[in-house]
Amino acid sequence: MNLNGKRIILGVSGSIAAYKAVILLRLLQKAGAEVKVVITPSTEQFVGSLTFSSLAGTPVFKGLWDENWSEHVDWGNWADLMVVAPATTNTLAKMAHGICDNALLAVYMAAKCPVMVAPAMDVDMFSHPRTQANLKVLEGDGRIVLDTGSGYHASGLLGKGRLLEPEEILEAVAAHFDALLPKPLAGKHVLITAGPTQEPLDPVRFLTNRSTGKMGYALAEQAAYMGATVTLVSGYTHLEEPRGVNRIVARTAEDMYQAVHAVAANQDLMIFSAAVADYTPATVADQKMKKGDGDLSIPLKRTHDILKSVGAIKREDQTLVGFALETQNEQANAEGKLKRKNLDLIVLNSLNDKGAGFGHDTNQVTIIDRNLKKTPLPLASKQEIAVGILQQAIAWMVGQESV
Ligand code: CTP
Repeated sequence: MNLNGKRIILGVSGSIAAYKAVILLRLLQKAGAEVKVVITPSTEQFVGSLTFSSLAGTPVFKGLWDENWSEHVDWGNWADLMVVAPATTNTLAKMAHGICDNALLAVYMAAKCPVMVAPAMDVDMFSHPRTQANLKVLEGDGRIVLDTGSGYHASGLLGKGRLLEPEEILEAVAAHFDALLPKPLAGKHVLITAGPTQEPLDPVRFLTNRSTGKMGYALAEQAAYMGATVTLVSGYTHLEEPRGVNRIVARTAEDMYQAVHAVAANQDLMIFSAAVADYTPATVADQKMKKGDGDLSIPLKRTHDILKSVGAIKREDQTLVGFALETQNEQANAEGKLKRKNLDLIVLNSLNDKGAGFGHDTNQVTIIDRNLKKTPLPLASKQEIAVGILQQAIAWMVGQESV
């Protein structure tokens, strides 16, 4: 989830659910957003403004008659999004009718940005015809009205009207910003391989490598943001399935080979970032291997080179991108792989670069195309590197279409 650089006003009205707004504030900040908080007078019955201002790092706007009373206009111009969570019956009704008798409502009336509303109230207040009518008015005004959760309320009543969980509101915020992004991969199918493979020796042991899968997962996530239908064939990792991505878990090189070939023909763009074992134990013991007195050698056999096998059958209209992780003769080795595996682009990862490669949250790569044009990308987060790689791949695809 990436809300870097987004400016959000969090409007909190007086409900027992106001404590969830504290968690939402934290989640929005963790995702990279800059957040300012405005509250209604009754919010402080539930959560003190000091809690919000300490976490936000800026004073909370709460009094229409304070020294800073005119700030509502500045705030209204500043924000990319205003999120009112929790939005009580009273606040919703006032928003729907343009009543402006507190700081939150003044900011709302001055806001030039989109406004998202997360209602929170008891079951009967929520189902009341006036509340439902007010929600319709807000929708008609172009506000994003979120659903409510269903379950037990603080009052003991059971049913609709509970504030969504902070994580669900965060999802809605991210989806709102995603929808605004350009979609250069709309209508395209993209396959990404990621993570390490595990080659079993016996039921409890396997050979693997230090890949974490972060680079491939960032590629999958960014390709989905760009509008692609994404299939992620992943070795075993601790990473969560990226939003909007179809993940297929493939533990061994053989599993990955099968999974890739099952979908390769449908893809427009394929990026192979997985660290696939080149060798696997020649036999896998049925039972746990017992130690003996002497040393042990384990015979290994070659696995399929998945990338090369796809390069051998790829169509003209398909773009194939590989990774090369090198420690010496970097450029020459990468160019050799580009040719041998019939790639369109290769992403050269030099382990000699600080902050690049396995396990880091950052990476530094050079992208080399079939014509040996080199595009270095500076050290950056794996998300930013993923965007850079995808932009190069898109430029290549556009270039090929116009040939
Ligand atoms: N790859 C693959 N299947 C394999 C091995 C590698 O699909 N069995 C892919 C990787 O995902 C990566 C690229 O091939 O995109 C480069 O892998 P690498 O192991 O560095 O290249 P090799 O040609 O195997 O060269 P070497 O081991 O000699 O460095």
